[in-house]
Amino acid sequence: MDFKLDGKKAIVTGGAKGLCNGMAQALHDAGAEVVLVDILDIVEESAKKMNESGARVHFVKGDLSDEKNINRIYEECLDKLGGRIDILLNGAGIQYRAPAVDFPADRWKKILDVNLSAVFFMAQKVGKKCWSRDMERL
Ligand SMILES: NC(=O)c1ccc[n+]([C@@H]2O[C@H](COP(=O)([O-])OP(=O)(O)OC[C@H]3O[C@@H](n4cnc5c(N)ncnc54)[C@H](O)[C@@H]3O)[C@@H](O)[C@H]2O)c1
Repeated sequence: MDFKLDGKKAIVTGGAKGLCNGMAQALHDAGAEVVLVDILDIVEESAKKMNESGARVHFVKGDLSDEKNINRIYEECLDKLGGRIDILLNGAGIQYRAPAVDFPADRWKKILDVNLSAVFFMAQKVGKKCWSRDMERL
């Protein structure tokens, strides 16, 4: 395989199932150590399943829609990865279909919290960590 991520460390949000679980598997197959983050209890089982192939796959359960949780989720991920992070795959997302004129305000807010704010705040934390590591190298 030409694509190798040996020694790289990755966080995959929304990794309990669906597309992001597949992407987490691909990162892992390429050699990365992965933490799956998800609101669903099955995230533990998903990590266990991936570990059957002798992998280094961890999980952190949490709700990314609440900004107060994001720091705890990020710190737990970092802890499981031994304090280093190279890759963030911001995949957790939700959708709700309704005519725009009837779209419920609480659904609108939730969608922005998960699909937009959590993506930004996770990227901010990982970006800060990677940036300070790069600065140390200079
Ligand atoms: N499937 C598609 O055709 C498609 C198309 C365009 C975009 N997307 C986006 O790609 C991503 C993955 O899609 P999918 O079809 O695999 O969806 P999915 O519902 O199977 O997976 C999304 C995952 O995100 C998790 N999640 C949702 N809210 C969360 C929260 N508050 N905190 C933590 N985790 C949370 C879910 O539990 C789930 O495991 C989503 O962001 C989706 O909106 C999907």
